[in-house]
Amino acid sequence: MGITLPAFTPLEDSLWLTLCCRALDNRTPNPVLGDAMADQIVRTVDYDYEKLNIGTNLRLNATIRAKKMDEVVSAFIARHPDAVGLDLGAGLDTRSHRLDTPDTVDWYDVDFPVVATARSEVIPERPHSHVIAADVTEKGWLDGVPNDRPAVIVADGLMGFLSQDELMGLWDQLLAHFPSGQMVFNSYTKFAVFAARHAPGTTSVAALIKFPGVDDPRDFERWNPKLQLVKEILISREPEVAHFPTALRLYYRAQARSTAWSRKGTIVLHYRF
Ligand SMILES: C[S@@+](CC[C@H](N)C(=O)[O-])C[C@H]1O[C@@H](n2cnc3c(N)ncnc32)[C@H](O)[C@@H]1O
Repeated sequence: MGITLPAFTPLEDSLWLTLCCRALDNRTPNPVLGDAMADQIVRTVDYDYEKLNIGTNLRLNATIRAKKMDEVVSAFIARHPDAVGLDLGAGLDTRSHRLDTPDTVDWYDVDFPVVATARSEVIPERPHSHVIAADVTEKGWLDGVPNDRPAVIVADGLMGFLSQDELMGLWDQLLAHFPSGQMVFNSYTKFAVFAARHAPGTTSVAALIKFPGVDDPRDFERWNPKLQLVKEILISREPEVAHFPTALRLYYRAQARSTAWSRKGTIVLHYRF
């Protein structure tokens, strides 16, 4: 029998799209992420994922981008076992479980209060993992987070819901708080913003998108000069494409030849500060 979670706003409701992509991925013969906990959460709440119309392409993009962020976090933690980890707009993602972050790492999942409550209903607690119930565009929510350790900051699926001013304010706050660290998030070009507003797979979030779209990852270095681009990860050029169904594989292989075209798809951006 399903359990009932508190009612979400449409913005909070966006967490189902990514969570269900991970759950459906786990039900495929060769999962990208193999996130059994995501699958369990969707079954536990008996969520009707069919209404989201998640197709193969959306599922693959959502799970590969999560995997790329996981890889950045894992590599950072391996080098900085005393790190602080933050997942901004964490939704019901179970990244610290998925990565089995060591006890030396303090991990913070940040989302609106209602989502934070929902997390406590369906996600088992872990030592050294904390939930911050906050709107990341407001001031003060970082006050209880240690500010003397390197930080690895993830934002998976958050960016689209922030305006340029909100994002710049968030980065100012984060980069003033931590002495050093890395940040990884998925980004959208202007074309991708247009597509997200009109594609059938993302109708549930189309009206909520505030991000203007950025075509060149170096633009973010201008938005905040403390940020230095480490890598632009274009999904079309990632090795996972080799396992895509034939038509998608051929499409992405063709796309991979052009940076401009690849940027119209899923992009994960990795910065240091
Ligand atoms: C598409 S979901 C992604 C959730 C999660 N990162 C994942 O990959 O499953 C976007 C999440 O961002 C959260 N969010 C959006 N704007 C936010 C804000 N200003 N402050 C905190 N969380 C926010 C939403 O509540 C939602 O959980």
